Amino acid sequence: MTAIRGHVAATRRPGALGVHSIDHFALMVPDLKVAEHFYRNFGLDVRAEEGGLSLYAYGQPHRWGRVMEGATKQLHHVSFGAFEDDMPRFAAHLQSLGVQRIDAPAGFESNGIWFRDPDGALREIRAAEKSSTNHKAAFAVPICGEGARGTVSREEAPSVRPKRFSHMLTFVGSAAKAISFYEQTVGLKLADAAGSDVAFMHGIHGSDHHILAFATGGGAGLHHSSWDMGGIEQIGLGAMHMADSGYARGWGLGRHVLGSNYFHYIRDPWGSYAEYSADIDYIPVTQDWEAKTWEAHNAFYLWGPTPPEDFVTNFEVQ
Ligand SMILES: [Fe+2]
Repeated sequence: MTAIRGHVAATRRPGALGVHSIDHFALMVPDLKVAEHFYRNFGLDVRAEEGGLSLYAYGQPHRWGRVMEGATKQLHHVSFGAFEDDMPRFAAHLQSLGVQRIDAPAGFESNGIWFRDPDGALREIRAAEKSSTNHKAAFAVPICGEGARGTVSREEAPSVRPKRFSHMLTFVGSAAKAISFYEQTVGLKLADAAGSDVAFMHGIHGSDHHILAFATGGGAGLHHSSWDMGGIEQIGLGAMHMADSGYARGWGLGRHVLGSNYFHYIRDPWGSYAEYSADIDYIPVTQDWEAKTWEAHNAFYLWGPTPPEDFVTNFEVQ
């Protein structure tokens, strides 16, 4: 976020071609009011813009998500951010791979490069400031010394707000195909995989352990968007507020193995999730991270409650 504010230059791997961020994602949902209630209570700054809703983190200018009205809930597209001077290289690179460039979809006109992935899902590469973080995100652990009360009362509990978007997990027809496609086209790298059906991809210019992840799930779809909260206290307060607001279903509190983040997933009105996350691993621009494939049962979560039976169900292809 510091890059957006202009305090620190974005980290960049010289000469290497790869997107640096997920610039934003776009969802279609049947009822915008339902989406507004969910994301506003989740703690995002939800604004009515361009005929739909825009999702911001409070205090930041970057638009992380767009929500538009459509017949059914669907992940409409994912837009990757790239350094502006890499855009001609990306255009030539995709052409050399035989990836067909298509027109921007109606309502989302831009100068970006639009194409479809192996599942037919819309993707864009656009010139954008690096919105992925340039360093490991802060993680606050409140410590109370002797002779003081460590908490406030329940009614004094503060509302909490996500600090930034971290990553998203999308359903794909085949995780193996998706790894290969996204490595070749947009230059993401595999950080870790859990068995053959789940994979986590990071950016080469410095990013969280994953900015995009895949789960084999019968085709394209959204599993979750994930938002950095900066601490476990904030995850707990957010989950409690969501339960009080009618969104008690989900999974958490727990800690992942791959990415190491603490999590609490809140089930959204359409069967996918928004994740409160904190302390996710970070892969700096200077490091060639060694990807590893883990046994799935050993890598899903370090601790936490048993996940819901339908936790990894792609309701967009039901
Ligand atoms: Fe996540």
